[in-house]
Amino acid sequence: MSKDSRIPGFYRLPPAARRQELIARADLSADDILTLDGGGLDFAGADRVVENAIGVYTLPLGLGLNFRINGVDYLVPMAVEEPSVIAAASNAARMVRLGGGFSAEADDPIMTAQVEIAGVADPVTARQRIEAHATELLNLANAAVPRLVQRGGGARSLEVRISERVAELGQRLVVHVHIDCRDAMGANLVNTVAESIAARVAILAGGRFGLRILTNLSDRRLVRIDARVPFAALATPGADADTVAHDIAAASRFAEDDPYRAATHNKGIMNGVDAVVIATGNDWRGVEAGAHAFAAVSGRYRPLATWSVDGDTLRGRLVMPMAVGTVGGTLQIHAGARLAQRILGVTSAGTLGMIIGCVGLASNLAALRALATEGIQRGHMALHRRAVDATVRTNGLEVTR
Ligand code: MEV
Repeated sequence: MSKDSRIPGFYRLPPAARRQELIARADLSADDILTLDGGGLDFAGADRVVENAIGVYTLPLGLGLNFRINGVDYLVPMAVEEPSVIAAASNAARMVRLGGGFSAEADDPIMTAQVEIAGVADPVTARQRIEAHATELLNLANAAVPRLVQRGGGARSLEVRISERVAELGQRLVVHVHIDCRDAMGANLVNTVAESIAARVAILAGGRFGLRILTNLSDRRLVRIDARVPFAALATPGADADTVAHDIAAASRFAEDDPYRAATHNKGIMNGVDAVVIATGNDWRGVEAGAHAFAAVSGRYRPLATWSVDGDTLRGRLVMPMAVGTVGGTLQIHAGARLAQRILGVTSAGTLGMIIGCVGLASNLAALRALATEGIQRGHMALHRRAVDATVRTNGLEVTR
């Protein structure tokens, strides 16, 4: 069967039938699906991952539908506890699909190591000396991560930033090493590089090294997502399409003008982003840190996605850092995360990052459309009530509403 991501009436199917549909479309076996019954990680596995383990904490896993990205359909696993996130993203992806689907690009998978050097007497000369030894330092860095170099990655370039004087430390330099992490998120690789070059950098700078760690502001590993929604797709029972489109663009301008609104706008984006980051076994704290630092990089906190009207099309664009991987990390231990990647059918970190960005943009569109029309509470509370009813049923109580 084709991997068509449009499955009308999926939400109405009984849970077991939903799984059968997924098995057929994602080329899985019945045993594969059973992995999910334990959440993909058992107690023994948890005990190998964290300290003082006492159990496993699970989240619902659902399927985001209707995603077409650069002409390819994807079924998108989403792990999230908030009702309406998956339905909203799927609904918005259907609208974008009517305009041809998402267009997406990902930068090369470059992460950056920071080496702090303190007590530098002559920062300008120190910078020149470090830059003059760049090839030696990059070789030293690559010698510390030979398997990454074998896979085609490695340290690519370095730069030296002279930062402010700190009273008790003297003049501080910060050396950035940009590392191509291929399909890994790369935190361990980057930290290894930082630690491997620090002593030599300190000698060259005539100072002493301080912190040696990646930056989560991974602004060389961005995804850029575009969506074009025909006005006709946006109409609601109570509002005509033209009004809805203009009101979504106005809501986007509100986020550009007001950091308080931008924070909530971006939270709606992260509803979708985090759900896929978590489902695929990635570090959502790192993605969150990168997103909000990038949102504020101009000196003012700004929306990660914006919408504007172009003729009879609503155009959306999202740009954000996306430090995610398809190898290493949790994947070795978490069968659920491995299955999520199989459902997506991705092996490249860049493609995974683009998919995650599209889910973020879809979540944003759904939120703005709801906010610009009937408000968020009606749909949200209907789905919330469904969850509460289910809880009551599970507990054997009668639903009296
Ligand atoms: C709720 O989880 C997310 C929203 O607040 C996002 C937004 O306001 O854009 C609805």
